[in-house]
Amino acid sequence: MFPLKIKKIYNKKNKKKIICLTSYSKNIAQILDKYCDIVLVGDSLGSVLYNYSTTRKISLNTMIQHSKSVKKGITKSLMVVDMPYKTYRNRREALKNAKYIISQTGCDAVKLEGGKKIIKIVKHLIKNKIQVMGHVGLLPQSEKGKFKYKGRNKLERNKILNDAKSLSSSGVFSIVLECIESSLAKIITKSVKVPTIGIGASVFCDGQVLVTDDLLGLNPTNFRFVKKYTNLEKIIDKSVRLFRKEVINKSFPTKKNAY
Ligand code: KIV
Repeated sequence: MFPLKIKKIYNKKNKKKIICLTSYSKNIAQILDKYCDIVLVGDSLGSVLYNYSTTRKISLNTMIQHSKSVKKGITKSLMVVDMPYKTYRNRREALKNAKYIISQTGCDAVKLEGGKKIIKIVKHLIKNKIQVMGHVGLLPQSEKGKFKYKGRNKLERNKILNDAKSLSSSGVFSIVLECIESSLAKIITKSVKVPTIGIGASVFCDGQVLVTDDLLGLNPTNFRFVKKYTNLEKIIDKSVRLFRKEVINKSFPTKKNAY
């Protein structure tokens, strides 16, 4: 059975919504920690902070470095770290890398992208007491071309539903549903015993996740599923502009800022 911290998330299904956001550093993590059930160190880090064209380019060591920082901001939430591309191609590689991530960062669980195709790997991790979060629908690590929502035809819908069912019975504690057509997300959520956490997958999921930089307006993106709750870019711009002006006109630093 699940450890207590994971059980708390699992037990929210059909009762309370699960709140999840991404973080790549301590300062953001300590704010999220007050409001989130789960803080995810997503490999979106690659595109959001490093400007890579794909999440495939992020390395295991970079993920670990950022996760160490995030861990310092967390006191109560569950911390999940994405396993980067090509770090879980077989059971041995996955177990070695998952253990390495956990020992280096102190995170509670890892997330892997994929369904039936990686089910033996997922089961192997769980058998070895690694807590796993699943991820189905749009899979940025394997996606080629432009991102499109999933569940457009019967074949695709059946595949995603079966992937989610397999993951659920393999022992994952939750599943991220990314960019999935609403009625399919609803069916999946009703069909699996573990909580579903949606990103672009409708209100029917058991919880929601967003990339924090998107929500804060720090990362230019026009995905339909993103809601910008503020425009931090503008706020930072204004502050930096003022700092510049004050340095030039010598109104900063004042006596109060000097020794
Ligand atoms: O990498 C990431 O940030 C993610 C979330 C968007 C779910 O996987």
